Order: sequence, then structure tokens, then C-alpha cells
Amino acid sequence: MTPPQTGRLYLVGIGPGDPELMTCKAVRILTQTSVWAAPKARENSSSALQIAAAMVSPEGKTVLELCFSMKKIRLGCEPDQEAAQSWRQAAETVLAQLDQGRDVAFPTLGDPGLYSTGFYLLHTLRELRPDLPVTVVPGITAMSACSAQVVSPLGLGDDVLTVVPAAFDDARLRDILMQSDAVVLMKIFRQLPRLLPLLDELSLIDKAVIVERGSMDEQRIHYDIRAAAGRELHYFSTMLVRKKQLISRAS
Ligand SMILES: C[S@@+](CC[C@H](N)C(=O)[O-])C[C@H]1O[C@@H](n2cnc3c(N)ncnc32)[C@H](O)[C@@H]1O
Repeated sequence: MTPPQTGRLYLVGIGPGDPELMTCKAVRILTQTSVWAAPKARENSSSALQIAAAMVSPEGKTVLELCFSMKKIRLGCEPDQEAAQSWRQAAETVLAQLDQGRDVAFPTLGDPGLYSTGFYLLHTLRELRPDLPVTVVPGITAMSACSAQVVSPLGLGDDVLTVVPAAFDDARLRDILMQSDAVVLMKIFRQLPRLLPLLDELSLIDKAVIVERGSMDEQRIHYDIRAAAGRELHYFSTMLVRKKQLISRAS
């Protein structure tokens, strides 16, 4: 049973990195909540917390660092026991705050609805409290920021746009690349060497661009994606592939 004074969970999209790309609503919710929760970062503070803190001071707030297993829960599938246990512990940490009537904000990069850990947390919380009050605050996605940075649309007219994690196997990616007019490949940071032969085979090398840490101070745009394969890309790297128009170089 949900206690009568239970707090509300806010999954807050904080945009792709440039603090100015946070919405007014995200800033208001982060200001009003006394508890923030974020995945525990390997070094220093989590990226989402750093971005949020650039607009709203976390001083005086309780900041919960949640330890999530890297093995994700696949919704609808039998979960890995170790992963499920770590997600449950994280959910219980959040629940302890909610049960004291405190609202909890979970700032998440980009939009919470796009490949974000926020919905894994919500799924686990809802297993413990099916009627937990939740608000999702949408955010500007990383792909929107990447599109803006290279001054090229994601989709236009009758384009078929596909958004996909780059870790898919070659056969699946080949089908997607062949059937779409434009493709956004997320999480490419360790996948580039294996993506290049596939893009080459489909004559798409010159139609692709990589935006690394889009909208952040350290942003890099790789128009020559072959050259990018020679260096270690940051985890915040996305590839845009567009068949109909060449991606124009941003001036
Ligand atoms: C877990 S997903 C999060 C996506 C996020 N929820 C969104 O709405 O964009 C992480 C992936 O998003 C992409 N990403 C996140 N931030 C980025 C940025 N600033 N620039 C380029 N790609 C980014 C990268 O492909 C990264 O591997």
C-alpha cells in the first residue's frame, strides 16, 4: 500500500549537455525537489548531476547516488538476478525518501523516454509500489542536439527515420540502413570499427557524421568517420546517417 503522504517521483529530462538546453519545467522541478537521485558515477559526479547543477544548485539537497548494474533489465523478460537485485536496492533507497513524503527528482540526460535508465528505475519502483505517483518531464534529446550542431534535419517530408542502438548485429543493422532514409545510431563509442565495413558496403560512409559530446563544451564533429575510428570516442557519441541530402558542414 502507498503511504498517504508519499512523495512523487520525477523523471526529469535535462537535455543533451548544454545547460541552456534544459527546459523551464526541468529547472523548476529540480529547484522544488529536495532529493535528487542519480546513477553512481565511476569518477566525480554523474554527468546528469553535473548538467543539472549548472542550472540549479544542489546545495542543501539530499543527493542519492544509486548503484545500478550495467546488465540492464529487459522489460518483459526474465531479469538477470544480480541486475534485478541492484535495481531493487536502488529502488528501495528512493522509496525510503518517497515514503517520508519527499519528492524525488531523477535527472536524466536527454529525454527520459529515449534509452534512459529512468524507466528501469520506474519499472522496479512500480513493482514495489504499483500506484506510485510519477511525472515524466520530457527533455531535448541528444539526437536533436546533434542534428542542430550539423545543421541537418533528422527527418524531412516522407523520410523514414530509424533510431537504433549501434550494438545491434550486422544483419539487423544492414536491413535498417537499407530500409531507412535516415538513421540515428546511438551508443556507437565502441562500435565504430565494426560499423565502418557495413557503411562502406552500403556506400554510406560519406552520408554519415559523428557528433561527440554534442552541445557540450568539449564537442567534436567528425565528418571523416574513418579518421574517427582511429581514436577513442566518448560514450556521448551519436552517428547520423542521411541518404537524401549530404550533411552540410556547420559554419
Ligand atoms: C543511454 S543513451 C541516452 C539517450 C538520451 N536519453 C537522449 O534522449 O538522447 C546514451 C547515448 O545517447 C547519446 N548521447 C547522449 N548525450 C549525447 C551528446 N551530448 N552528444 C552525442 N550523443 C549523445 C550517445 O549515443 C550515448 O551513447
